[in-house]
Amino acid sequence: MGDNIYLPQLARIAHIKEEVGGERAIKTFRLEFENGGGFEHACGQCAMLSIFGRGESMISIASAPHIKDYKQFSIMRVGRVTAAFHELAVGDVVGIRGPYGNSFPVDAWRGKNLVFIGGGCGLAPIWPVIQTAVAQRGNFGEITVFYGGRSPRDIMYQAELEKLRGAVDVHLSVDKQEEGWNAFCGFVPANLMDKEPSPDNAIAITCGPPIMIKYVIENLRQLGFKDNQIYTTIENKMKCGVGKCGRCNVGKDYVCVKGPVYCWDDLKGLPAEY
Ligand SMILES: Cc1cc2nc3c(=O)[nH]c(=O)nc-3n(C[C@H](O)[C@H](O)[C@H](O)COP(=O)(O)OP(=O)(O)OC[C@H]3O[C@@H](n4cnc5c(N)ncnc54)[C@H](O)[C@@H]3O)c2cc1C
Ligand code: FES
Repeated sequence: MGDNIYLPQLARIAHIKEEVGGERAIKTFRLEFENGGGFEHACGQCAMLSIFGRGESMISIASAPHIKDYKQFSIMRVGRVTAAFHELAVGDVVGIRGPYGNSFPVDAWRGKNLVFIGGGCGLAPIWPVIQTAVAQRGNFGEITVFYGGRSPRDIMYQAELEKLRGAVDVHLSVDKQEEGWNAFCGFVPANLMDKEPSPDNAIAITCGPPIMIKYVIENLRQLGFKDNQIYTTIENKMKCGVGKCGRCNVGKDYVCVKGPVYCWDDLKGLPAEY
């Protein structure tokens, strides 16, 4: 990055996939660095993506670290910058700086059962961990993925989730029943209670809307998970990404530096400013 920590590298959009349509549409972008640039990242880290003249947004890196050819990002259209991303086409060039934040301690989880619980766009930050665990399948015990969206059309990574079946237990859900939907109907925390994953030798990793995370954690504790077995990521608004502007803090923590990955044992002691 040179002397200027805010200077983005250039990356070209190599592929765009429309994951989810509607009001809160999600598109997945594959970015390839230009001019021989690039950086290594760890599972759970994010990057500041920018469009010239439009602004920048912090987005989770949704591809696993072992994938070297590109970095993947799934972006929900919620405002100015994310809407501008949705207007881009393959071949367009954007800015990228990072990687930022801490990461999931995946190596420390070897030999454990992994229970992933995602909702909405919250599958993106935990997707690199799922990909890594599947790529190193022999290093982990049972792998279970709970994931839900509002309706069948809101389920992201549909084809990829289907491919996981066999190596991984996948439990999908939608909030409201629709014709043709044969999996669970109800909120993600309810699907969790329906399947009752065991806390024995397990780690639970959850990401999604704050209200979902709240009830998922409550239900995990009811199932017997201890606070040090539960991990989540938080998405406080960020500006600099490097611990300088104070935009993202929770209590004394700058989330861009100390987070976005937190063990619930640590997060529960901080003010609920997330
Ligand atoms: C660590 C981290 C990882 C993230 N990962 C992803 C990701 O993988 N995919 C993704 O789509 N988004 C992700 N986000 C959220 C993303 O950064 C914001 O949605 C984006 O910056 C909004 O920019 P905008 O200019 O489009 O919206 P704005 O025009 O700035 O705002 C539109 C609306 O969204 C609200 N808003 C803006 N930023 C946030 C935020 N961070 N959290 C909640 N509400 C916000 C505003 O208050 C406003 O109501 C992540 C955020 C963080 C901090
Ligand atoms: S975003 Fe500036 S301190 Fe975290």
